[in-house]
Amino acid sequence: MKLTCLRLLMVSVLATLLTMSSADLQYDFYNSSCPNAETTIRNVVYSQIDANPSVAAALIRLLFHDCFVRGCDASILLDPSSANPSPEKSVIPLAQAGYQAVDQIKAAVEAVCPGKVSCADIIAFAARDSVNKSAGFSYAVPAGRRDGSVSTDFSLLTNMPSPSFGIADLVGSFKRKNLDVDDLVTLSGAHTIGVSHCSSFTNRLYPSVDPAMDAGYAADLKVPCPAPPGRGVPDNLVNNSAVITTPMTFDNQFYKNALARRVLFTSDAALMTRNDTVAKVTENAADLAAWKVRFAASMVKMGNIEVLTGTQGQVRKYCRAIGS
Ligand code: HEM
Repeated sequence: MKLTCLRLLMVSVLATLLTMSSADLQYDFYNSSCPNAETTIRNVVYSQIDANPSVAAALIRLLFHDCFVRGCDASILLDPSSANPSPEKSVIPLAQAGYQAVDQIKAAVEAVCPGKVSCADIIAFAARDSVNKSAGFSYAVPAGRRDGSVSTDFSLLTNMPSPSFGIADLVGSFKRKNLDVDDLVTLSGAHTIGVSHCSSFTNRLYPSVDPAMDAGYAADLKVPCPAPPGRGVPDNLVNNSAVITTPMTFDNQFYKNALARRVLFTSDAALMTRNDTVAKVTENAADLAAWKVRFAASMVKMGNIEVLTGTQGQVRKYCRAIGS
């Protein structure tokens, strides 16, 4: 009896702690300080995607890279400077289109309410708007994130999961960010959209094809990626979801590809190596509507990682430099 009470108490303390840690962000955060913030951001995101469809994938990926390294604090946006020559962005080059879109968004938001909307919140809203534009569903994003001032190559290297990870490392890396196995499988669905360099997956093609990869798919990939890049072999781009002809359309195709063993990275294929993750891949492949609900919830959860709020950090005026 005593043990049951203790357990109940622990559960309620844990629940309170969880509520406290996510209560710092608020829905409709900019309602009074910048009522047009979300509309302004959405308008710029949509026009940027209309002009260049690759912006959608770049902005969705930006949230992941921002939040996994030092929390969702826009540290990914900081450019190299003489004081900090190796920030996060110097290690893994993300699509320039994403950074440029954030510049445009920030300029538009500063024009309507100077100094109010953080770059970290812009990343979270812009990812949501990119999902809506490419996948046709939206979700509310709590806000109030503040921008950090530290960005180092070391923190990126120690926090980002690698495409060569197996399932245990992937689960561990998500767990360290308070994300569970369901979040891992759900968010991996983002690999339906966008592009990848050959160098991210040629480990699965050479010197021999990974037996976990469909042989026909491997043969298709060897056309744009005839050998490991380097020594005169270019590092070409391929669509993340080679099955579909419109790579900028975002749905649950990733899971269908995973079941057909037609996904790019070791880390994608790793989802097919454990019973529980296979079950979740199968569920998401079969039920687009249910995956959308899960994806929205997991994006909000990812957007809560180690946020700075209140008087912590700052609101940068220009997202690429601190104190600006
Ligand atoms: C599970 C761990 C993950 C690993 C190891 C991983 C790895 C990668 C790699 C290697 C690329 C290709 C980069 C290149 O070759 O240029 C990529 C692309 C991409 N990833 Fe992930 N990723 C993971 C999770 C996520 C998550 C959680 C999201 C977002 C919810 C995401 C969204 C994307 C998108 C949209 C692209 C395409 C980017 C573009 O076209 O600009 N990834 N990822």
